Amino acid sequence: MLKSHRCGELRKEHVGQTVTLAGWVDRRRDHGSLIFIDLRDREGIVQVAFNPEISKSCHKVASRMRSEFVVRVSGEVTRRPPGTENPKLLTGEVEVIARDAEILNTSKTPPFYINEDVEVEENLRLKYRYLDLRRAGMQENIMLRHQTVKFIRDFLDADGFIEIETPILIKSTPEGARDYLVPSRVHAGKFYALPQSPQQLKQLLMVAGMEKYYQIARCFRDEDTRADRQPEFTQLDLEMSFVEDEDILALLERLFIALVTTIKPDRKINQPFTRFSYADVMERFGTDKPDLRFGLELKDLSDIAAQSNFDIFTSVITGGGKVKGIRAPGCATYSRKQLDDLNQLARSCGAGGLITIALGESSGGSLDELTAEMVHSVAAKFLTLEQIKEIAGRLEAATGDLLLLVAGNAETVNISLGALRLEIGQQLHLADPNTLAFAYIRNFPLLRKNTETGGWEPEHHPFTKPRDEDESLLDTAPEKVRSQHYDMICNGFEIGGGSLRIYTAELQRRVFRLLGYTDEEIEARFGHMLEAFEYGAPPHGGIALGIDRIVMLLAGRETIREVIAFPKTQSAIDLTFNAPAPVTEEQLAELHILLREEE
Ligand code: AMO
Repeated sequence: MLKSHRCGELRKEHVGQTVTLAGWVDRRRDHGSLIFIDLRDREGIVQVAFNPEISKSCHKVASRMRSEFVVRVSGEVTRRPPGTENPKLLTGEVEVIARDAEILNTSKTPPFYINEDVEVEENLRLKYRYLDLRRAGMQENIMLRHQTVKFIRDFLDADGFIEIETPILIKSTPEGARDYLVPSRVHAGKFYALPQSPQQLKQLLMVAGMEKYYQIARCFRDEDTRADRQPEFTQLDLEMSFVEDEDILALLERLFIALVTTIKPDRKINQPFTRFSYADVMERFGTDKPDLRFGLELKDLSDIAAQSNFDIFTSVITGGGKVKGIRAPGCATYSRKQLDDLNQLARSCGAGGLITIALGESSGGSLDELTAEMVHSVAAKFLTLEQIKEIAGRLEAATGDLLLLVAGNAETVNISLGALRLEIGQQLHLADPNTLAFAYIRNFPLLRKNTETGGWEPEHHPFTKPRDEDESLLDTAPEKVRSQHYDMICNGFEIGGGSLRIYTAELQRRVFRLLGYTDEEIEARFGHMLEAFEYGAPPHGGIALGIDRIVMLLAGRETIREVIAFPKTQSAIDLTFNAPAPVTEEQLAELHILLREEE
């Protein structure tokens, strides 16, 4: 090694030792006679002092050092003179007095500060990712990711799981996105598809008798990129034979509690994980991935609204719709602009509009104090004070609160109030950043109607097992069939999903047919699965968790790009490599590909 110690490990116990360090110049301070550099490596920073009276040549080398130069220094660890200690550094009680120094490489001035936690435009960071990754925050994120994955591997190994790699060049495995395709040179006109997940492969491993499989698996999906979505991402993929869903949920709950309490002991985590049915969570939060760190649940007000003289309410209810609402604590004084923005948000979710009721200016008072003069709302003249109090009471409101009401069909009402709930939660900073609120959602519908084609499509993937008691509805009322799927959510993100699987060819074929596949298509696309199920497939189930999302939540970051070493931009570009990029005519010809002119 070119170094004997890591910069960040030096403490007063090392005083008197001669050490050799190597790293980057984080900062250089030239006091004329004395030069100080903060020397940085992966483990931290230590101050090195260059005194011409101790070594003239060394001091001369130091005078040529600049930020981000790579240097190697040998010298003695000493206590810093009293009064010059730096409590902000773990190494702040000591410094290294240089006796030997060498510049291993120079550096151009970086396009942004490495040593300061300042906001840098993301595309610049991504172009120079290797410099961005030198910054302390990113080093922590990448380290956290390593620790997380290592913890998961050790935990599952101790539980009898084996990690098995599965192919990247394979055939389409539907998870609801477009496939990335790889043309075959050897087989003209044929393509591999990169796996959207190892779903079918892990099921085949169960048929193969592996019983407990996991993999830290790379997945590829050609879909719109977002803060929590990348075209390629990493799953903890897991599958078990001879289990019931409770076995899988309990295992994952143990894993996550152990993971968080070991890796981020300062975080609060709810134990046990909350459980919801899909119907319940939609009814109460308007989304299947609510942030549970705050309340403001949606409440059904249809019975009260039906008694009012407000046309908007009564006509919706007569038409089979609903009126529901939430409270926005202390928001009665919201400005016109703020109310317009909330209205706009509701409309963007499909609602016809938003009815607001402001309950006076003074906050937190009992509803008994509420008078008609205190109430501000376009609906006020159609509602009696008693009705307003009843609505406010159901929403557990106090004076000074703003009530947000939406009328319409049940789904639109839930979705728009779910979005408003999240918005109010964010505006009022209701979610404790130190809490991780986990929950499981179960009893999803198996299928959903494709509004364009009118056909059925899987709510998750076609291998999900219907609930046993609902199987008989497959032919008569497919919309009523619930699945044995479960999601794991945390702080408003879906972090995982899985299910018990279909393991007989007969039921699997029935589901494929229901999804509109012809027998020929079933054979061509999934014949291998159906055949495998005819050779003694065990009952099995599993789950996949988004590693990127988990690490993002543990790191307290807002996007998964912050916890991926080389992520792609929102438009799926790798800015460091400038990928995707054109290829040569020869390469295309070899792959039997002729490019079409864009229309
Ligand atoms: P699913 O499609 O729900 O299930 O994916 C599982 C988890 O993977 C993460 N995830 C993503 N993370 C980043 N970028 C993406 N584009 C992305 N897409 C998904 C999410 C999600 O919860 N084969 C099934 C699992 C199973 O049934 O066992 C599957 O892949 O955290």
